Parts: sequence; C-alpha cells; structure tokens
Amino acid sequence: MDGNRHHGRVVLVTGGGRGIGEATARRLAAEGAAVAVASRTEEEVSAVAQGISASGGQAIPVMMDVCDERSVASGVEEVRAGLGPVSVLVNNAGTPGVPLPVAATELSGWRRSFEVNVTGAFLCARAVLPDMVSGNWGRVINISSAAARHPVAGMAAYSASKAALDQLTRVLALEGAPHNISAIGVYPGVVDTRMQEESRSFDPEVVGEQLHRMFRNYHDFGMLRPPAEPAELVSYLCSAEAERLNGHIVRLDQLEALKRGQ
Ligand SMILES: NC(=O)c1ccc[n+]([C@@H]2O[C@H](COP(=O)([O-])OP(=O)(O)OC[C@H]3O[C@@H](n4cnc5c(N)ncnc54)[C@H](OP(=O)(O)O)[C@@H]3O)[C@@H](O)[C@H]2O)c1
Repeated sequence: MDGNRHHGRVVLVTGGGRGIGEATARRLAAEGAAVAVASRTEEEVSAVAQGISASGGQAIPVMMDVCDERSVASGVEEVRAGLGPVSVLVNNAGTPGVPLPVAATELSGWRRSFEVNVTGAFLCARAVLPDMVSGNWGRVINISSAAARHPVAGMAAYSASKAALDQLTRVLALEGAPHNISAIGVYPGVVDTRMQEESRSFDPEVVGEQLHRMFRNYHDFGMLRPPAEPAELVSYLCSAEAERLNGHIVRLDQLEALKRGQ
C-alpha cells in the first residue's frame, strides 16, 4: 500500500460507517487522503473516523442523510470547513429494500430504493461538483450493483435504481470531462456486509424460496468477498493510474486486468 497515493485529496464517502464504505474510507485514509465518513448513524461514523485518526490518518465523521437535500448541503459544508474542498466523492450509501415481485411492491418501497440509491447520489454529486470544477479535478465513484445489468425476479426496485445510477454515472462522465472530472461505476461483487446479512434473513414466505436460497447460498458456499476487496478497487479508480477511465462501469474481478492496462 502506498501511503501517499491519495495525498492531498479530500474524499467524501457516503455510507462510510460500515461495510464497503467503511473499508473504502479506511483504505483511502491509509493511502494519504483526508476522509469525511458520512451516514445517518453517529456511533458508526464516529468509530470509523476515530479509528482512522488513531492510526495516524485524517478523518472526520459527518452525519448525513443522502436523501435529504438540506442534510447533504450542510454535511458538505462540514467537510469543506473540516478538511477543505471535496475532490473525490464515493457514492456508496445504498439500500437493498425488501426484494419483492413488482405485483407485491408498495409504491413507498419502490420510491425508497430510488431515493437512496439514485437521488442520494445525484444530490451528493451536485453538492460537490462546484469544488471539483474550481479545482479542475475530481472523481465521482458510484457504487452500483451487477443487479443493474442482470435481471433477477423479485429485485425490480433495487435493480432499476442501480441501472439508473449507472446512467447517472455516464452522464456525469460527459459533463465532467471538460473540467477533468471523471465518473466511474463499480459492481462490487457479493460482499460480506450487513446488507447481505439482512438479505439472507428475509423470510422465504415473503421474498420467495428462490431469492432466499440465492442469498443463503452466497453465504453457505463461501462466495462472499471481504469489503477490503471493493475498497482496493475504489482506491485504484481514484488514483492517477485510472486517469484513462471515465464513464466506465467496472466489476470487482476486472481490477487485475485494469492494473495491467487492459
Ligand atoms: N454487499 C453486497 O453484496 C453489495 C453488492 C452489490 C452492491 N452493493 C452496494 O454497496 C453499497 C454499500 O453496501 P454494503 O453492502 O456495504 O451495505 P451496509 O453495510 O448495509 O452499508 C450501507 C451504508 O449505507 C448507509 N446508508 C443507507 N441509507 C442512507 C441514507 N439515507 N443516508 C446516508 N447513508 C445511508 C448506511 O448507513 P446508515 O443506515 O447508518 O445511514 C450504511 O453505512 C450499497 O450501495 C449497495 O447497494 C453491495
């Protein structure tokens, strides 16, 4: 690990209190970035920021609900005041919702998936873009899901919201290019986090036997990857080596090929 890889960068990681976001915040801070760790759960973001500071890195906790325009605006102000203008945004906050067939999905559940997984990313990107434009450099990394590409019965709201996030990534890439701002999507694989824990604990009577078995099998057959792996990919995507990427959607298993320049 290169302790200077992200030196001088100010990074906002949403959903940084646990799972993939926590691992990403820790990784980027260990490589020299100043990191704002944001979510709605104070104990989690404080613990992650304290852990980073205790190991010699720079981090602040930020309470932020990505669905709330005012909360995003005040959170980004806190980051600017505490660390400086934001140069990297990791839109990681996300929700799986309760996976249900379209016919059984409540409007509120559908809307919630889009609010967190797409509108949250839009609000955060919109709030930090002025910093990136002023600095003539920026990276927006959107943590998406392979569900955006591969349809799974029972996962319409999650999959459609992540597909919308991918298109937001591509449009941001076009709009950011003149300012040296790139946007990249990430399919992190199946990762051992609270989200997977929740997904395999849904009642099979509610989500159906097939989905229940799919989530259980990820666990029982040892398919879950540690959060440090997608964090390593995000670190690569924020580095100078990834300069040529913009508008790409990258899978976890592509990291080694990307490092070889493929
Ligand atoms: N784990 C997987 O297998 C997997 C696979 C594909 C994609 N992903 C994606 O990876 C990302 C991270 O998920 P994870 O697996 O690490 O899950 P996780 O451990 O449950 O973490 C989700 C994070 O998002 C935050 N969050 C949720 N709603 C929020 C809101 N309204 N405002 C601010 N923060 C919010 C949570 O914090 P609070 O609830 O405390 O606010 C938490 O920190 C998600 O976008 C997910 O869709 C995960």
